[in-house]
Order: sequence, then C-alpha cells, then structure tokens
Amino acid sequence: MRRFILLPLLLLFASPALADPDLAKGEKAFMKCQACHAVGPGAKTKVGPPLNGIVGAKWALTPGFTYSDDLKAGGEAGKVWDEATLDAYIANPKAVAPTGRMPFFGIKPAAERIDLIAYLKQFNAAGEKQ
Ligand code: HEC
Repeated sequence: MRRFILLPLLLLFASPALADPDLAKGEKAFMKCQACHAVGPGAKTKVGPPLNGIVGAKWALTPGFTYSDDLKAGGEAGKVWDEATLDAYIANPKAVAPTGRMPFFGIKPAAERIDLIAYLKQFNAAGEKQ
C-alpha cells in the first residue's frame, strides 16, 4: 500500500517546474518552432527569421526580413527580447505584438517555455553553442 503513496510524491518532486531548465526538453519544444525558424551555424530565414542570439537581442533582429510594424517599431524603440518578454511572446504572440504576424498558437506550460528559452539561449549570434 505504501508504495502507491510514495510514487506520486516522487514524481511530484522530480517535476520539471521545480528543477533547472532541461535543455533536451527545450530542444524538443523547439520542434514546434522549426517549421518557421532555424538556429545553429548558417541558420537561414524560413517563414520566420533565424533565432541565433535572440535572447537579449533587439526586436526585429534580422536585417532584410519583412517584419510586422509591431516588431519593427519595437526594435526602433529599443525593445529587447529579454527572457520575460520572450516568455510572454511564446506563451501568446498576440499579447506582445497585437498586430504581429507570427502565426503561432503559443506554448501554455510555463516549464516548457523555460526549457525552450534555455535551449535558445545557448546559441550566440553566429549560431555557435556557448
Ligand atoms: C508558422 C510559422 C511560425 C512558427 C511556428 C513560429 N514562428 Fe516565430 N515568427 C514567425 C514570423 C512570420 C515572425 C515575424 C513576426 C512579425 O513580423 O510580427 C516570427 C517572429 C519571431 C520572433 C521575433 C524575432 C525577431 O527578430 O525579433 C521570435 C523571438 C520568434 N518568432 C520565436 C518563435 C518561437 C520560440 C517559436 C516556437 C515556440 C516560434 N517563433 C514559432 C513565424 C513562426
């Protein structure tokens, strides 16, 4: 009988929300972005701009990409993709850029967003893992 009580407790304490970001899970979460975004050496523009060095970068980072007015104006006003802003954008793009044109429904679980941002944070502007 005891083991039926202990097992759920163990699972609770091993839950990702309480642990450090999990880069493997972050990489898996990035699969939701991959149709439109690339990272890594030589990452190219797809439907969306490449995301190398995006954590901490200014909005509308990639020269030549046709951004929405929201992201362009944000970049010109000096807004940056700090972790909190990126988190809000990934949770619900329209909440951060109401007339933006990223066609993405958002990632609801906070732990998944934390893992994903930690995964993205590894890539510097040249696409190298730092
Ligand atoms: C269906 C295509 C699509 C998907 C899926 C998608 N994006 Fe985007 N993303 C875009 C487009 C298009 C833009 C440009 C938006 C604009 O100009 O408003 C963009 C913009 C961005 C930007 C701003 C880049 C900059 O240079 O300022 C970030 C950050 C971003 N996306 C992250 C993500 C992440 C992380 C995911 C996965 C959770 C994701 N996107 C999923 C298409 C997509």
